[in-house]
Amino acid sequence: MPFRSVFIAVVIAFALILGAFLINRARPSVETEQPTEALVRATGKCAECHLRSQYSVVHEYEMSLHARKGVNCLDCHQPAPGQEKKDHHGFLISAKLTAGNCRNCHENIYQQFLRSRHAAPAWAAIYGEKGLTPEQVNFSEMYQPGGVRRLPHPFVQLEGESAMTSGCEQCHSVGRPNADGTIGTCTACHTRHTSSVRIARLPGTCAQCHMGPDHSQIEIYEESKHGVMFQAQERLLNLDAPPKTLTTRDMFVPTCATCHLSGINGIGVTHDPSERLSYYLANAITEKRPNYAAAQAKMKQVCTQCHTLAMIDRVYSQAEQVVQSTNDRVKAALDIMDGLHKDGMLTGPPFSQPIDFVYFDLWHYDGRTSKHGAFMGGADFVQWHGNYPMIAKTVELKAMAEELRREHGRTK
Ligand code: HEC
Ligand code: HEC
Ligand code: HEC
Ligand code: HEC
Ligand code: HEC
Ligand code: HEC
Ligand code: HEC
Ligand code: HEC
Repeated sequence: MPFRSVFIAVVIAFALILGAFLINRARPSVETEQPTEALVRATGKCAECHLRSQYSVVHEYEMSLHARKGVNCLDCHQPAPGQEKKDHHGFLISAKLTAGNCRNCHENIYQQFLRSRHAAPAWAAIYGEKGLTPEQVNFSEMYQPGGVRRLPHPFVQLEGESAMTSGCEQCHSVGRPNADGTIGTCTACHTRHTSSVRIARLPGTCAQCHMGPDHSQIEIYEESKHGVMFQAQERLLNLDAPPKTLTTRDMFVPTCATCHLSGINGIGVTHDPSERLSYYLANAITEKRPNYAAAQAKMKQVCTQCHTLAMIDRVYSQAEQVVQSTNDRVKAALDIMDGLHKDGMLTGPPFSQPIDFVYFDLWHYDGRTSKHGAFMGGADFVQWHGNYPMIAKTVELKAMAEELRREHGRTK
């Protein structure tokens, strides 16, 4: 019966192939998407040594999408254009990695990042134009007017180098000018070896810098309904969802990234958080941004993936009233300060009189906090950390101003 045995053989062979296919499909993608030979060689060589001395580095890398997609150690560590080369156990590696090591493969994102306040303006907020080329200054000024063409912050002088290096710079160097001609670093939000979107989407990642009395975003978020819901439901969210197909089914509770960067439900990821901001809330007196209407529409588009427009319009109109009343309070305090300067009562350098600090805290802590709280659901920050101390400091400021005028009268 030759036909029968051939038939059985064919059936068995088919069953085997199907079985193999099904088993293979069930395996995790880490196993099926085998790295190339070149990857094994490059990664293997680096990993061979570094697994022993820095297990953590290699392990974090192994868990990344990069490892699964065949991006190897050397792809990042090889010298990018303009970088100092270093001979390293038979490999040529870069002495210092920057955003320049990521842009090879993520040029569009690098360009978005470059237009943002996380790039040159973050650096210029402390050092002014120092270290930036005229081209870099001109480029950034096109997108962030007044963000870069400015003087160094008075605290650079007052606090000195060690405070700058271990303080301000730790946060503001997200946009530092690099020796290779690029700007900034991508690892502030993605870490060096996980290159993870999950980590970038966690509020704690942004909170490395967005915290404290002068920009209490994490404190506000944690007290907001969004923060409470995130804490309660984090484990139900699909924080690993690929950015291009992220939906509100993956993230039905927003984190900082959802509102400011993510492309939820097809809206489009951005690495420039200014795109969705309609006011300059961090300024003493808050004004509308040049792209006010478009930016506000973009943010509202994010909110309305989860809320009705009527509710969101209400939140915005209430918050805009807080901006207005905060501006009024800060303006009143500023008028007192301007009056003292005009009448020659405050002649020293910046921050040489107690009253300078009272005024600075009034707008830089309390004013900002009240505005940020109003937009991001932080009632306590609008009130007890915002308006209340603003009132208290206004009284203090007036008393100090009177005292200064009296003293001045006496010494004249
Ligand atoms: C033969 C073992 C060995 C191999 C292979 C090796 N490394 Fe290293 N690596 C070391 C040791 C030891 C150090 C710490 C001392 C030093 O700086 O040389 C180090 C340091 C480093 C540093 C820190 C350098 C610095 O100046 O701060 C980086 C980055 C690095 N290695 C990346 C790599 C990459 C990427 C590869 C593969 C392309 C690689 N290494 C291959 C042993 C090795
Ligand atoms: C996605 C890009 C990327 C990949 C892939 C990558 N690295 Fe790195 N690695 C970095 C960056 C960025 C730094 C920080 C370097 C700096 O500050 O100059 C770094 C730092 C290091 C350091 C110094 C760590 C420390 O804390 O002192 C070592 C060692 C290292 N990498 C080894 C490796 C090895 C081994 C691999 C492969 C298994 C690898 N890297 C893959 C981007 C990468
Ligand atoms: C050799 C090219 C290459 C280099 C260099 C590179 N990447 Fe990637 N990166 C990729 C590829 C390929 C993917 C996967 C894209 C995909 O599947 O959509 C990826 C994905 C990512 C993702 C998304 C991960 C996720 O879970 O969705 C992040 C974040 C990322 N890279 C950051 C970085 C950073 C930061 C650097 C520099 C430190 C860097 N990359 C350097 C090629 C590269
Ligand atoms: C903990 C991280 C951190 C430290 C430390 C820090 N900053 Fe900032 N800074 C931020 C963040 C985050 C913002 C954005 C605030 C916002 O938009 O609400 C900011 C905003 C600013 C701004 C206003 C934005 C602008 O471009 O005008 C200035 C100016 C500034 N910082 C200067 C400094 C100086 C000077 C120091 C040190 C004396 C310093 N910062 C220390 C995180 C930090
Ligand atoms: C390494 C520190 C650091 C991290 C991490 C960081 N930021 Fe920032 N961010 C800054 C600084 C500094 C500024 C202020 C830059 C300026 O205006 O001078 C800023 C500004 C901003 C602004 C205001 C932009 C504008 O146009 O005024 C937003 C919104 C923002 N960041 C959102 C985020 C989000 C969301 C995350 C997390 C996904 C994040 N940031 C992570 C340092 C950081
Ligand atoms: C302020 C924090 C922050 C910085 C700085 C940052 N990223 Fe991201 N990045 C994010 C967030 C958040 C996401 C995920 C957006 C989402 O939820 O879909 C992301 C997503 C990505 C993705 C996946 C995008 C996609 O469409 O698949 C890549 C690749 C990436 N970043 C690369 C970079 C590179 C390269 C840099 C430096 C030029 C950089 N990032 C700097 C926060 C940051
Ligand atoms: C539910 C959405 C939402 C979440 C979640 C959220 N924000 Fe915001 N954020 C806003 C809105 C709305 C504004 C004000 C927008 C405007 O100016 O039109 C704002 C303003 C800001 C600003 C002020 C920029 C300036 O003008 O000074 C920063 C910085 C910021 N957010 C960072 C964060 C960080 C960091 C987190 C997480 C800890 C976070 N946000 C969480 C919606 C959100
Ligand atoms: C990814 C989904 C999502 C996005 C985007 C989002 N929210 Fe929410 N929001 C929620 C959830 C979930 C709750 C809790 C609802 C509940 O109490 O059942 C909430 C609650 C709120 C509340 C409190 C309502 C109350 O009375 O307790 C306000 C106010 C709010 N959101 C405003 C906003 C604003 C403004 C934006 C945009 C800047 C925004 N949300 C974006 C999901 C979202």
